[in-house]
Amino acid sequence: MSLLLNRTSFGDVANKGNSLSRTEAMDLFNEWVLNARLQLHMKQVAHLMSSWAAEREQLDAAGQWRWELAGLLHDADWDRWPELHCKKIIEELEQRNVDPEIIRAIASHGPNHFGVEPETKMDKMLYAFDELSGLVHAYSLMRPGGYDGMELKGVKKRLKEKSFAANVSREEINDACSRAGIALDGLIGFIIEKQGAVV
Ligand SMILES: [Fe+2]
Ligand SMILES: [Fe+2]
Repeated sequence: MSLLLNRTSFGDVANKGNSLSRTEAMDLFNEWVLNARLQLHMKQVAHLMSSWAAEREQLDAAGQWRWELAGLLHDADWDRWPELHCKKIIEELEQRNVDPEIIRAIASHGPNHFGVEPETKMDKMLYAFDELSGLVHAYSLMRPGGYDGMELKGVKKRLKEKSFAANVSREEINDACSRAGIALDGLIGFIIEKQGAVV
């Protein structure tokens, strides 16, 4: 099954600055995503994206919401239409005249799967958070205190254990960090600090 998108241009520049309201986004989210585990993953990535936009990119509220929206909807079609993953949500957001920046970030969240290279900072951070967020969450589930007291070295130990969260690609994590120009330790630390707030 190929998920290649076979294109590199997304949305219409005339829609720059357009977004969905939170209600519109949550309506789509709730209609398309029925799996609770996937819902949590998407909310976690959304929170990481908005936190990064606020604290590291110093974006205003509208900018933070654009980053959050990319995270919130990046896997929206995975649950009901796995064979159309990415393609379906991209087409939906194009029809709704959403800012191409947001659509592009979603289209490049898995360059090895969709064939679209992350270019902007938003693209790169979504790609970087996606896999690592899942591994940190899997680790929280096996700790009695969850995220409480979680340490960098514990996460790094799990990363080295190939059998732990084996579906999480270590190669993609390293690739994402180097593309984003950020250190793995810093990224893990950010996720540990932020992700526990999402339940
Ligand atoms: Fe995905
Ligand atoms: Fe994801």
